Amino acid sequence: MVKMPSDIKEIVAKQVPLPIATADKSGKPNVVFVTMWKILDDETILFVDNFFNKTRKNLEANPQMAIVAYDSEAKKSYQLKGTIEIETSGARFDIATGMADAKKLPGKAALVFNVKEIYNATYGPDAGKRLA
Ligand SMILES: Cc1cc2nc3c(=O)[nH]c(=O)nc-3n(C[C@H](O)[C@H](O)[C@H](O)COP(=O)(O)O)c2cc1C
Repeated sequence: MVKMPSDIKEIVAKQVPLPIATADKSGKPNVVFVTMWKILDDETILFVDNFFNKTRKNLEANPQMAIVAYDSEAKKSYQLKGTIEIETSGARFDIATGMADAKKLPGKAALVFNVKEIYNATYGPDAGKRLA
């Protein structure tokens, strides 16, 4: 896993809704918006599965995910790639159900995103460069 530096973490934290991209086993891509998520620590972001359909099926078959965030004031964008653990019990599931309960949503699972790669996604000469 890699650690998100604090400036990148702040930009991700402001991205609401956050787009998350998954793919099925054949590589067919899928992207959805998510508002119920929380940065747990420098390496981990928790997503709450309330309504995931293809997203959940994709992650069960292929536990890889990418997200992208853009801060229009800082004019910076970062892309994070990582792997997902699907949890339906335990401390992180309890956080997910707490968030879901507060909005009267189903809270079916915690999708725990472990950050493995960070890329610069800002337009310009460094676009696409791996940072971590
Ligand atoms: C603004 C917005 C926020 C959303 N937030 C969540 C969320 O936090 N959790 C969730 O399970 N689905 C959320 N959804 C639903 C998903 O975006 C999507 O509709 C759902 O996963 C079904 O698509 P899929 O079949 O590609 O997974 C949200 C949708 C919108 C438009």
